[in-house]
Amino acid sequence: MASSALISDTDAWKDLKARVQEIKAIHLRDLMSDAQRCQSMIVEFDGLLLDYSRQNATVETIGKLFKLAEAANLKEKINRMFNGEHINSTENRSVLHVALRAPRGAVIQSDGKNVVPEVWKVLDKIKEFSDRVRSGSWVGATGKPLKDVIAIGIGGSFLGPLFVHTALQTDPEASESAKGRQLRFLANVDPIDVARNIAGLNPETSLVVVVSKTFTTAETMLNARTLREWISAALGPSSVAKHMVAVSTNLTLVEKFGIDPNNAFAFWDWVGGRYSVCSAVGVLPLSLQYGFSIVEKFLKGASSIDQHFYSAPYEQNIPVLLGLLSVWNVSFLGYPARAILPYSQALEKFAPHIQQVSMESNGKGVSIDGVPLPFETGEIDFGEPGTNGQHSFYQLIHQGRVIPCDFIGVVKSQQPVYLKGEVVSNHDELMSNFFAQPDALAYGKTIEQLQKENVPQHLIPHKTFSGNRPSLSLLLPSLNAYNIGQLLAIYEHRVAVQGFIWGINSFDQWGVELGKSLATQVRKQLHASRTKGEPVQGFNCSTTTLLTRYLEASSDVPSDLPTLLPRI
Ligand code: F6P
Repeated sequence: MASSALISDTDAWKDLKARVQEIKAIHLRDLMSDAQRCQSMIVEFDGLLLDYSRQNATVETIGKLFKLAEAANLKEKINRMFNGEHINSTENRSVLHVALRAPRGAVIQSDGKNVVPEVWKVLDKIKEFSDRVRSGSWVGATGKPLKDVIAIGIGGSFLGPLFVHTALQTDPEASESAKGRQLRFLANVDPIDVARNIAGLNPETSLVVVVSKTFTTAETMLNARTLREWISAALGPSSVAKHMVAVSTNLTLVEKFGIDPNNAFAFWDWVGGRYSVCSAVGVLPLSLQYGFSIVEKFLKGASSIDQHFYSAPYEQNIPVLLGLLSVWNVSFLGYPARAILPYSQALEKFAPHIQQVSMESNGKGVSIDGVPLPFETGEIDFGEPGTNGQHSFYQLIHQGRVIPCDFIGVVKSQQPVYLKGEVVSNHDELMSNFFAQPDALAYGKTIEQLQKENVPQHLIPHKTFSGNRPSLSLLLPSLNAYNIGQLLAIYEHRVAVQGFIWGINSFDQWGVELGKSLATQVRKQLHASRTKGEPVQGFNCSTTTLLTRYLEASSDVPSDLPTLLPRI
């Protein structure tokens, strides 16, 4: 396929399109009765097991998806990513998050330079700094050890680290190393988030990590100025050097802000924000909380999947299979959403992270060459841990819209509980649901079954389940730092595969810019109205009315307010 041609113009795409009705007519109940087919749809790698037999796909469909991958030059695109080519063409950048977790001796080039030594230089610096803070050899302005960390950042500078932190919190080894320490995340510019973050913390024993790739993000910078004030007000302005550090690609702005450049941890423009959890963005706050050795295991898990993604044949390649199946569900079967359903409370922040990784990457309207696409890309990702989701939105998934589901289960619980006399352990109880739900979705319940159960006639339509609803199951051996790294990398690469097939740029995010620039206009207006009483002007009728009401209702706020911090 020529680089500017659309994938939808290829024979491979058209061939798959031509099979859609035929596949839709085969019920999953029937597909599941073919044991050979099911066996061929189970893949194992490094302790992980993927079962995609409950997808609306035959063995032939999978073969045709591999043909689609060939038509999209998938392998070549993966190679170009690993080789550091500027595949993020609208920003003229390499896409090398795989280098962030590469072994020390690896060679990965960007612009003719091996980036791995730089990566390890920063990792070594993080290890050294986090060891000093954790051991108490780095102390705050009043000589006290720093036991609490607030990481300020938003989007990719927040969601990935939050997911990993939440997942590690209950891992026995990680929680043991985090004893007596706290890690909090301040993301929203809402002052309530500031109040929640500083509640109960003492500036004397707190370290603030400002995380921002650009160091210009409005929310992060205002929050950073707010916490700088919180620290200075309590300990004096010179204390900032001891209580604030930064993670950024923009070290000039870090210094301008007043953070000692020696206390800045770099990363690079070849790391996309939403792909940055393995850079200092995640590694610094997580190492402060858990120690570098735990975080290193997380990096190793991600690296294992990188190697697998790079070298495994399509039939065995978990991210490739997942990516192709997502394209099949979105672009061919017409299912616009995907539910991410981890049967582990430790993964409660996984879906929010993947929302950004997936929706910011693949929610695009034009091809990488700027050609408007005649098909939709990306999917609407959402999710909650099972079993909580079962008591919330599963009704819609079972009897309403068809939403392909990712069931993620763990063999060994981080925190086993068994009550003597109970039928099963608590984890087995949880996992009973993990195993049952995919079959409920696939098989459904027929009128005949209900009649056999003597269900009253008038209730039969309400109690019927159509079934034939696709899902896939991913089983992890446990949920330690290594497995968390594996899970992260699987989803990162899956999203890339989808983008490579659709022929879009999964690594830029121009769609977030317009709202930001309109907010600048509003900010100027609020300032002019508050300080000079200027009327609202230059907006449409709706925004003018809303702004006027907002300003009128809060007109008692004096324009020359002294600094005010939360009182919680
Ligand atoms: O929301 C847009 C975005 O640019 C994300 O891609 C990014 O993760 C986030 O803002 C934060 O950006 P920064 O790390 O530069 O503060």
